[in-house]
Amino acid sequence: MSVRIGNIDLGEFPLLLAPMEDVSDPPFRYVCKQNGADMMYTEFISSEGLIRDAAKSRQKLDIFEYERPIGIQIFGSDIDHMREATEIATQANPDLMDINYGCPVKNVACRGAGASLLQDIDKMVAMTKAVVEATHLPVTVKTRLGWDDNTKNVYEVAERLQDVGIKALTIHGRTRAQMYKGQADWALIRDIKKNPRIQIPIFGNGDIDSPHKAAAWRMEYEVDGMMIGRASIGYPRIFREIKHFFKTGEILDGPTITERVNVCRTHLMKSMEWKGEKTGIFEMRRHYSNYFKGLENFKEFRTKLVTAPTVTEINDLLSAIELKYSAEMV
Ligand SMILES: Cc1cc2nc3c(=O)[nH]c(=O)nc-3n(C[C@H](O)[C@H](O)[C@H](O)COP(=O)(O)O)c2cc1C
Repeated sequence: MSVRIGNIDLGEFPLLLAPMEDVSDPPFRYVCKQNGADMMYTEFISSEGLIRDAAKSRQKLDIFEYERPIGIQIFGSDIDHMREATEIATQANPDLMDINYGCPVKNVACRGAGASLLQDIDKMVAMTKAVVEATHLPVTVKTRLGWDDNTKNVYEVAERLQDVGIKALTIHGRTRAQMYKGQADWALIRDIKKNPRIQIPIFGNGDIDSPHKAAAWRMEYEVDGMMIGRASIGYPRIFREIKHFFKTGEILDGPTITERVNVCRTHLMKSMEWKGEKTGIFEMRRHYSNYFKGLENFKEFRTKLVTAPTVTEINDLLSAIELKYSAEMV
């Protein structure tokens, strides 16, 4: 059965790319889309930043046709500002709007935004209602199990947010207090999915990092789809591998060094297309070690990659990496 968010048809059991600050920008989304991500989100965008017209927030509104369906994610602590930010973001013409009620980091959660709304469900509901009313687009929410072990209130949250009109809910199987530690626990996510009151799609999130785990958790927790974050960093192929496994029961062979180099080249090219050569090269620097994780004696190449000033030099280095490591793997 196809999963739908409003009139967006995501097919059967969609795999979503998680919103990730400083990661899920257009160049990264390009390589994830190429590898089969069914739906993607922008990095989170501060509602205050949007209203102030801050350059950083504005730039995060950049979306491209080939990315559809794509959601813009916003966060904030003030309901009126969230309403206004929704109006601004809607003009960027995404396919949906998403609200972040999951961010645990201090300068978000301790300023009354992100996961801190899990401590004030009435306000969260009012904020969500305001966002739903401020846009013609479907609104989705991403949140956690609760604030801490004693307040795992996402079951109630799911019902109340559905009642004010959200069209899908993604749940990260951790509390705010857990940050990113320990194992994600999806048991509560299954309870929500099984709640007869819940009609909207429920997406599970947290710790999916292999086709086997994706298949096992799909069976065990009965969610409508999964959102994948960290496992896609430096490895957007995770989407393709999981889909292939679902379809055939077989594990794809690991990527060749040529494939790894090619993804990296594409990511770099898209980064330069988006931000210009200088900034594109600079922003790509944080990604190289992710793409070449596990290669022996890579340090020297890494140092050169993150200091090379021109695209010609980077491309030469990438060719040298390809040559060296394909020779070693024969
Ligand atoms: C670098 C990084 C940045 C993140 N930024 C965001 C964000 O902007 N918005 C959001 O809702 N979650 C954000 N998250 C949380 C992820 O979307 C996701 O919920 C979390 O990483 C768990 O999924 P995973 O185990 O598949 O990585 C971020 C996570 C990471 C690692």
